[in-house]
Amino acid sequence: MECSLNVSSPALKGLAISNGYQWRTHRKFAGLHLRMFGEEKKILEHSIQQESVYLCDAFKTEKGPFNPMTILNSAVSNTVACLIFGQRFDYHDEYYQRILHLDNECIQLMGSPRAQLYNVCPWLLEYLPGPHQTMFSNYKQITDFLRGEIIKHREDWDPSNPRDFIDNYLTEMEKKKSDPETGFNVEGLVISCLDMMEAGTETSASTLRWGLLLMIKYPEIQKKVHAEIDRVIGQSRQPCLADRVDMPYTEAVIHEIQRFGDVVPLGLPKKAAKDTTVGGFFIPKGTSILTSLSSVLHDPNEWETPDTFNPGHFLNENDQFRKRDAFLPFSAGKRACLGEQLARQVIFLFFTSLLQQFTISKCPGEEPSLEGEIWFTNVPCPYRMCVSSR
Ligand code: HEM
Repeated sequence: MECSLNVSSPALKGLAISNGYQWRTHRKFAGLHLRMFGEEKKILEHSIQQESVYLCDAFKTEKGPFNPMTILNSAVSNTVACLIFGQRFDYHDEYYQRILHLDNECIQLMGSPRAQLYNVCPWLLEYLPGPHQTMFSNYKQITDFLRGEIIKHREDWDPSNPRDFIDNYLTEMEKKKSDPETGFNVEGLVISCLDMMEAGTETSASTLRWGLLLMIKYPEIQKKVHAEIDRVIGQSRQPCLADRVDMPYTEAVIHEIQRFGDVVPLGLPKKAAKDTTVGGFFIPKGTSILTSLSSVLHDPNEWETPDTFNPGHFLNENDQFRKRDAFLPFSAGKRACLGEQLARQVIFLFFTSLLQQFTISKCPGEEPSLEGEIWFTNVPCPYRMCVSSR
């Protein structure tokens, strides 16, 4: 299957919307980078732990009811920024906040009927007004920001000492000079950075927003997470990834947050690269395909209580964590999410750090809804919450 998106870049470069040879070489390269910075050097774990300190500090400064969206977006985007740019941005950095806002607006607009229509027949709407024009303008500003970061990197780039994704990509560009079909060039780098920023920020931040909302709605489940954190981690050190194996209840809660939140309900649009048959249905080459991840995450044949938040879905009779085949929020197959490991690390470390330090509750007189809003992603309706230090 190939990607069939037109909206974010008609040039079909980078990671998420390229196809064929270009996609294969980019996916392999980015996968290696993520593994090197994530699993081997543990740089990512360390930077996520550092960011969780800023995140908790930002929560502490909130004196009354607040909507956690901006803080969570800033914190999550910094974990991707460390990977790409080798640096984090202050939550009050106006320029970076503007970039995040523009990107957020694009993801919101991507779900609009006009943007969907543009995706199907771009030639029809190219010069007409509508939300797709706002998206073009936003993407122009975001990619200008990315070009600026690449120029800065080039000034003190040392191939023998790569600091981040951009440095490694610049080296790859040199290596692939004789093979231009791979698409390793400055525009490929810009779009790859955009793909990671976009795919990595909204998704993980919305998952955390679902998570905090569900903790407000189910205080008895929050208490059990608190108890497990106190038993395994305590209050004298930060959570680390090695804690996951000792925290089956928290792992089950996080998996259930992802199942219930169903953040990317339709995956990324695809099209059949050749004539094929799936489950007895003939699909001709070129057919647009949407994979309904929602239908799997809420399949009544797979889940005991598909429409209810129930961490028991991921626990066995001995209260140990159990994997479920129908847990597919990151999709499956060759084009499944590239950032699954990073996302799982961010969600675990941020969620446990916040619950280690805070009790989260609804604001007096307010009853937040568990209904989602469909942007390109499925996000919780805006809500406010109160936090108290533990
Ligand atoms: C909770 C967080 C996340 C969720 C639920 C999620 C989910 C998904 C899904 C469903 C897809 C489409 C797969 C398909 O259509 O078959 C996808 C693609 C992708 N994701 Fe994620 N994602 C998350 C976080 C991340 C992060 C942190 C990154 C990287 C920084 C990332 C990078 C990508 C990329 C590059 C693709 C395109 C892969 C390709 O086409 O080869 N994602 N993601």
